[in-house]
Parts: sequence; structure tokens; C-alpha cells
Amino acid sequence: MRRRLNPFVPSPRDVLVRALSEAGVWPDSSLVDLGSGDGRVPMLAAKEFRAKAVGVEIDGVLVEHAERTRRALGLRGARFVEADARSVDLSSVNFVFTYLTTDALEAIKPALLTADKDALVIAHGYPVKGWTPTEVLRIWSSSTGKHHVFYLYRIEDALRARVSEARSLGAVGGAAGSRLRVASLFENT
Ligand SMILES: C[S@@+](CC[C@H](N)C(=O)[O-])C[C@H]1O[C@@H](n2cnc3c(N)ncnc32)[C@H](O)[C@@H]1O
Repeated sequence: MRRRLNPFVPSPRDVLVRALSEAGVWPDSSLVDLGSGDGRVPMLAAKEFRAKAVGVEIDGVLVEHAERTRRALGLRGARFVEADARSVDLSSVNFVFTYLTTDALEAIKPALLTADKDALVIAHGYPVKGWTPTEVLRIWSSSTGKHHVFYLYRIEDALRARVSEARSLGAVGGAAGSRLRVASLFENT
């Protein structure tokens, strides 16, 4: 059954530019936002960084809204799919963006662990339980008047630290076939 893990709360645009820049998003790299809301993260990644970006969002109304905005901007390089973030396969994705609570991140952890070893998770606002970030960014937003924290995780480190946990969650050698392979969506961005 599909269940929304968190409500839509947008990341301020000014911190996103800094966060993606510090994370090292490069032209033609691939980025997925798990829980993409109004689509601002994939659109910004495509527009400002020339990345290929996909937004995965459980709420079909938000997916339509994001797609309408993308078309109105005449933007290529971003697309949106209505799907549950828990059921994606992230192989061949370079960057995984999240703005989800720690409990929600725990629910999508098996999906995160389908990413390649060198993939980078950029977690806005909330850390992933049991993982040690490679870097923590504190970025001031003039629109919210506060600092926003971004936790960066290299999947390789997460796997090394938590091999047994990954196995028990079924992410290693798990049922990848039943997952939506996000990388296949980049071809049509
Ligand atoms: C806090 S908002 C973040 C929006 C956007 N990523 C940003 O940073 O501006 C979280 C989003 O995750 C979506 N969401 C919640 N549970 C989800 C799930 N299981 N699968 C996909 N999206 C989900 C919500 O509908 C909401 O749009």
C-alpha cells in the first residue's frame, strides 16, 4: 500500500544552489530527488548544473504540478514520476537528494542501499540513522532566515559500516527486479 511518509515542505532555492554545488553535481551527472514535491530540486539540478534529473513523488497532483512547471519553463533534463520512494532501484545514479525525516529515511534505507558505492546521498535537514556523514554542510538561507543542514553520505561508507544491516534489510542481493529502475528514466529527460 502506498503511504506518504512526510508532507510537502519545500527546500529554499538559495540553499539548494549551494548544497548541490558543494556536493559536486556536474554536467551530465544523474540526480534523483526521492520525494520531489513541486519538482524544484530536479529542475534546479537540470537548469543550473546541466544534470539529468528525476523526481520521484508519491503524490500525483504534485507530479503534475512539477511537470506543468517544467513545460512552462521549456526545461529539458528533468522529469517526474509518480512512485513510492521505497520501491526504487538507484543503480547508476550519481546523486540522491532527500528532504525527509529520519524515520522516513529509515523506511527508504533499503532503496538507498541499491545505489552504487560511489553515489552520494544529500540529505537535507535530517540525518540517516546509523550512518556517518562524509561531510555536514550548514548553509544560511536568506529566505527562511536560518541555517539549513545537509548531511552527505557516500554509499560505500554506509555499506562498509552496515553490511549486516544492509543484508537484514534485503538490500544486498535483494529483489531489485521488482523495483523501479530510476536510471532507465534518465534516457528520456
Ligand atoms: C519535505 S518534502 C520535500 C520536497 C522537495 N524534495 C524539496 O526538497 O523541496 C517531502 C516530499 O516527499 C513526498 N513523499 C512522502 N512520502 C513519499 C514516498 N513514500 N515516496 C515518494 N514521495 C514521498 C511528499 O509528498 C513530499 O512532497
